[in-house]
Amino acid sequence: EKGGYETFMEKEIHEQPHAVADTLLGRTDDEGRLVLDEVRISEEQLGQIDRIVVVACGTAAYSGMVAKYAIEHWTRIPVEVSLAHEFRYSDPIADARTLVVSISQSGETMDTLMAVKHARELGALTLSICNTHGSTIPRESDAVLYTHAGPEVAVASTKGFSAQITAAYVLGLYLAQMRGGEHAVNAQAVMRELRNLPEHIQTVLDRMDRVIEIARFMADSRSVLFLGRNVGYPIALEGALKLKEIAYIHAEGFAAGELKHGPIALIEPGQPVFIVVPGPDTPHELHKKVVSNIQEIRARGARTLVIAEDGDEDVVPFADEVIRVPATLPLLMPLLTIVPLQIFALHLATAKGLDVDQPRNLAKSVTVE
Ligand code: BG6
Repeated sequence: EKGGYETFMEKEIHEQPHAVADTLLGRTDDEGRLVLDEVRISEEQLGQIDRIVVVACGTAAYSGMVAKYAIEHWTRIPVEVSLAHEFRYSDPIADARTLVVSISQSGETMDTLMAVKHARELGALTLSICNTHGSTIPRESDAVLYTHAGPEVAVASTKGFSAQITAAYVLGLYLAQMRGGEHAVNAQAVMRELRNLPEHIQTVLDRMDRVIEIARFMADSRSVLFLGRNVGYPIALEGALKLKEIAYIHAEGFAAGELKHGPIALIEPGQPVFIVVPGPDTPHELHKKVVSNIQEIRARGARTLVIAEDGDEDVVPFADEVIRVPATLPLLMPLLTIVPLQIFALHLATAKGLDVDQPRNLAKSVTVE
């Protein structure tokens, strides 16, 4: 049942090209226009929304953060991301023009369910991005956009995460298409590139030998930091979460721009830091800014583990290790940059002799508030 892999987590990491491809399947018509047959909210209702609030917990919330950058850029609709348990009891503001998007692999997370129920009471439209057919959250929502990752068994989510990001992209591109004009033209172009992502993910998976080696060397690490910017920021948070969850190592993710506002004080000689580097085409010179962050921490003795696009030579002088991913659109990079961080956590935990599928104290779905 583990298909030749040692653990479910390893199997599920390797299923990501399929999880993404299957989540994209059947979502465009012959002309390449997006269709969302399962979403039973009328185009008229969707046309009226002026705000989106994403509610989720854990890994799913990080996929929501990726969604925020992408959906706002493609549609210009404001998107907020709230941890579901924080949203529910903060006296939240939502009405018929608010689309509350819940993201949950299991569809059973109680914190997320309570947020969705409350959003409906407030009169908001609710849409569930979910991996489990017939589960509670989709049943309690106005509409559902299923991810097609297949059953996820390992407690720490991997392919569920990639599929959630993919579904959120599809939703954002659908809304962009509805807005018409330039938005629609751009949505078609992004969709074409999104179709290449399963193959690019496979390329990353095929290149993981060095990352596995690094993970084994680092089995006795006490602390690992992760930096990212823009869509790389939630990837830094998710990379840190994976390491906490399955390897029980203190790990923290930071927005790279925050470095000088505090975290740089943590840098001492030998401190390992992963840096998720934006593609060179990312607007506002974010690439250059992150490269200078790498330079700053390297000068203070950090061991820099850099995740960068093929052909990005600017990082080389400041990197102890360069982990390469294929070039793609800046907003689609998370589907590639997360893979080495998942592999790293998996192999580090394995080297420590831990049960990666059933980490201590955690449950696959938390059905209490
Ligand atoms: C948790 C799991 O407590 O619930 C996490 O251990 C997961 O891995 C989180 O990200 C949210 O779960 P779900 O099913 O709502 O996506």
